[in-house]
Amino acid sequence: DKPENNCIVIFGASGDLTHRKLIPAFYHLYANGQLPEEFAILGVSRTAFSDLAFREKLKQTLMTTEEVDEQTLEAFCQHLHYQALNTAAAEDYALLKERLDRIGKQCHTNGNTTFYLATPPSLYSVIPENLAAYGLNDESNGWKRLIVEKPFGYDLASAQALDQQLHRYFQEHQIYRIDHYLGKETVQNLLVFRFANGMFEPLWNRNFIDYVEITAAEFLGVEERGGYYDGAGAVRDMFQNHLLQVLAMVGMEPPAAINADSMRDEVVKVMNSFQPLSDQDLQQNLVLGQYTESDVRGEHLPGYRDEQGVASESRTETYVGLKMFIDNWRWSGVPFYVRTGKRLPTRVTEVVIHFKKTPHPVFSANAPANKLIIRIQPDEGILMSFGLKKPGAGFEAKDVSMDFHYESLEETHMLTAYERLLLDSMNGDATLFARTDAVKACWKFVQPILDYKEDPKHLYGYAAGTWGPKEADALLAGDNREWRFPCKNLTNTDY
Ligand code: BG6
Repeated sequence: DKPENNCIVIFGASGDLTHRKLIPAFYHLYANGQLPEEFAILGVSRTAFSDLAFREKLKQTLMTTEEVDEQTLEAFCQHLHYQALNTAAAEDYALLKERLDRIGKQCHTNGNTTFYLATPPSLYSVIPENLAAYGLNDESNGWKRLIVEKPFGYDLASAQALDQQLHRYFQEHQIYRIDHYLGKETVQNLLVFRFANGMFEPLWNRNFIDYVEITAAEFLGVEERGGYYDGAGAVRDMFQNHLLQVLAMVGMEPPAAINADSMRDEVVKVMNSFQPLSDQDLQQNLVLGQYTESDVRGEHLPGYRDEQGVASESRTETYVGLKMFIDNWRWSGVPFYVRTGKRLPTRVTEVVIHFKKTPHPVFSANAPANKLIIRIQPDEGILMSFGLKKPGAGFEAKDVSMDFHYESLEETHMLTAYERLLLDSMNGDATLFARTDAVKACWKFVQPILDYKEDPKHLYGYAAGTWGPKEADALLAGDNREWRFPCKNLTNTDY
């Protein structure tokens, strides 16, 4: 079903996220007939634009970055509006309210409104307060929702403070915290794969699984986001949110039902079982790295400290590798090796489930153990490896695989993460949005790493285009294991 008529107000309308992700997502939803008959997108930012100029600017962006149909694009742009506003100035919200009233009447939105915070995080608490001052949080005439982009806080204390501030003006059911990894088809499929297949779930535990690897590698460096990234680092940028959400999907118990409450109850339960990191873990099980300059496949790549916006003596990590555990019945004693980094050899995100070997090796001592490789991106798919008798004399086991690629599902249109999440938020479905307790659980788990990385004893260099510091190999080597080499096609582009 299509969502009800509604209006989306984007704060930060002249920003990068709006141009790169939000407007393209809305355009594709529109082109696929997934938006309601009547809807309006109201861009808000400080710069003065007329509606016409705003439409023209976005039209240009869409024409250069997306495959568009001209007529559809024209029609889509008629739904775009613009309001200049100083988001920090309370009195300016009178203009916004007036504008929303007018748009509401024109487009029959019945007051249904979503406020999307795509601004710098310093404005996250100001905007809701100002909206509330003009009754724009009041659901007595149509729903009012607030979408909050990452980063949701900077550490445990600031995330809790932000939550308290939001909850003064909006109730939890109105708040949608975006983690775009949850919008990825392949991340959602972790649940279907686990809970819709009778053959895997019985094995999905400490009795049959030896260890789990989660890798999120990017080839790109920090690009033009050096200023932001240098204050964040890989732990805040990728690990605390995206990777721990993926890990929760791999580790959670089956939910009682697929709805926002049941699902998120299970997510937070497994997050609360992450084994807290001791000082010894920080010394032995954590590896932080920073990339240095290098030539990769004919391209010279600068070191992190030479990137624009990055301090020349920066000690910010662009790589994090961690061995961690989940303290519960299902996972007790099973290591999860998790790593993410910028300027690794290529872009790939995958989960690898390593099954235990058979109890007694009848065929050969080094017969391979079964592996399940869930490719989140790119080349989305699932590969299962198993032993087969090597044809010929004798009995030797050989590693072979069955490989499913999403691209073979020709009839299926895959929504991008933002398309899926925007659609869900318009439908009032918060299942794929982070709940307050989950955000808190992740920050709580990560806080010792944040404290440690304030002044890290060890920050290892790695040449751009390599798989991170060699010390990260030792995380597994100590357990007689190796990181999986994730893909065959190494490229110098992420997109
Ligand atoms: C963002 C991070 O949240 O996720 C970026 O801020 C990172 O640094 C991006 O590049 C990765 O997302 P994806 O969807 O390209 O894997």
